[in-house]
Amino acid sequence: MPVELVDSPRVDLQAEAGRVSARIDDFFARLLPSPDDGRGQLYDAMRHAAIGGGKRLRPLLTVAASRLFGIDEERALRVAAAIEAIHVYSLIHDDLPAMDDDDLRRGRPTLHKAYDEATAILAGDSLHALAFEILAHEATDPDPLVRSDLVLELSRAAGPNGMAGGQMMDLLAEGEALDIAAITRLQQLKTGALIEYAVEAACILTSLGREARTPYRGYARNVGLAFQIADDLIDHSGDEAAAGKRIGKDAEAGKATFVSLLGEDRARQQARVLVDQAVDHLADHGEEADLLRAIARFAVERDR
Ligand code: IPE
Ligand code: IPE
Ligand code: MG
Ligand code: MG
Ligand code: MG
Repeated sequence: MPVELVDSPRVDLQAEAGRVSARIDDFFARLLPSPDDGRGQLYDAMRHAAIGGGKRLRPLLTVAASRLFGIDEERALRVAAAIEAIHVYSLIHDDLPAMDDDDLRRGRPTLHKAYDEATAILAGDSLHALAFEILAHEATDPDPLVRSDLVLELSRAAGPNGMAGGQMMDLLAEGEALDIAAITRLQQLKTGALIEYAVEAACILTSLGREARTPYRGYARNVGLAFQIADDLIDHSGDEAAAGKRIGKDAEAGKATFVSLLGEDRARQQARVLVDQAVDHLADHGEEADLLRAIARFAVERDR
């Protein structure tokens, strides 16, 4: 299905994204008041990174998929906040001098610039731990098996077989001539794993059987890959003010991406094909899946 047909007057993506963002902000604000002791700076730093910024794409995916399955939004939001905590931690560490050495994130100074490197490392560590604390709390789901499955799959998505592993490959890819298969694998781990988890978590919350998860996994996998190609396109030819982060860094670092390999036009074409494929996985659904379709399209048609 061409992406043009995915547009639906029935969903207001911007309004939904705004609503979910506000709820995630509120969740972190309630969870992270600064204590009146030596940890105050750590909590301030965590709030700086976690509140008021970002597209909140992963939380939106979890909320949208959970709604499709009729899951109570309060529970979905807790899981969404846990995923965002992992994502924010990954951005804090990604920006450190030892990694991408960036000074701008979400239109504001990166955490190690606003505070210092040690505080940024500890804020990342703390958000990482916080994610699992949120999932393991009984308010997330009354069934301990559901909670342990949520924890198990998030630890897989964040660790060496997921985001952290992809980040290692990404750093080693500087100056390397990778082929499409190798870049796909790298990006699937670096970015795809957590995006896949955002949808998988809704399947876990609704205790969907393994077989029945197949289309949602296919959807999320394609969205994850398309999303990272869009990130690489923004780095290649985006607008720094809109993106809220420095651009041109991938080429500067000699980083292998879909854009460096295919060129801008073919990379964009590839991202759109992936979105079409993502949407195809939802073919058994009617308008109740329109929000997921709109998110898939937004994953590539974005400037930030
Ligand atoms: C940026 O993620 C890093 C990637 C994994 C591509 P996002 O583009 O989702 O960043 P925010 O959350 O909107 O700031
Ligand atoms: C980072 O990828 C992915 C993470 C796991 C944080 P990038 O390094 O391309 O993300 P940006 O461009 O700095 O947001
Ligand atoms: Mg990076
Ligand atoms: Mg980076
Ligand atoms: Mg990037």
